[in-house]
Amino acid sequence: MWLDLRTVETRLNTQFVGRRVVYLTSTSSTQDVARGEAESDAPSGTVVMAEEQLSGRGRFGRAWVSPSGKNLYFTLIMRPPLHQLRSLSIIAPLAVALAVEKCTGISARIKWPNDVLINGRKLSGILIETELSEQSVKYALVGIGVNVNFDVEVSEVADIATSVKRELGHETSREELLAALLNQFEVLYEKAARGREVLREWRSRLATLGCEIKVTFGGHVEDGLAEDVDADGNLILLRADGSRVAIEAGEVTLRS
Ligand code: BTN
Repeated sequence: MWLDLRTVETRLNTQFVGRRVVYLTSTSSTQDVARGEAESDAPSGTVVMAEEQLSGRGRFGRAWVSPSGKNLYFTLIMRPPLHQLRSLSIIAPLAVALAVEKCTGISARIKWPNDVLINGRKLSGILIETELSEQSVKYALVGIGVNVNFDVEVSEVADIATSVKRELGHETSREELLAALLNQFEVLYEKAARGREVLREWRSRLATLGCEIKVTFGGHVEDGLAEDVDADGNLILLRADGSRVAIEAGEVTLRS
């Protein structure tokens, strides 16, 4: 069944996030449609969502499995000041985790920097694409995919991914979840501008800290202990030789 946008609207209590929605039954990737919208001066908070993506994409050039009518695939167009750009990568997964908990009671953790996990499997992924103009942000495209009513256990990502349905044992309202997520996103966005509380909350949910990991970033691989994150959300890796490196973005795998 298609998403009921009126139900979403009645549950929204935001000022700007989700107040304009571009809704598509099928598209290549919501990131591409959102880029066109952003270039045509779409207001901050615009949501481009689709029931299905034919070329949904993830980080590191991977595909994002996007079956029709089951999940949430959307891109939020944001225009933050440059000093707030990095916080989008913290706000987005935290908004997903809090919304899932509010709507289902299931607790979710975050794999640095922004995968949302339930019981060690991936529920949601975030892809942020940015367009800068000189020293300011023209726009940021915050792409969020959440597996909601996907029968993920019979899919090609069964081993590594999960869905709300898989965890709960029954379907859940995509409308409730989307509205809760957009509400959370705006609250966290405003809060992040005022202090460190959002960073602390994100940090407290990181499943990665204290683990021996391998991080791949920029064609480079480092092993070590995920010791902490700094004030910008960089991962602090303690190497075997006792030195430390701060990593801005990358992919973490646990070392067995
Ligand atoms: C990842 O974990 O690798 C990021 C996945 C991001 C998927 C979302 S779905 C909506 C938006 N459109 C895309 O093509 N990708 C993002």
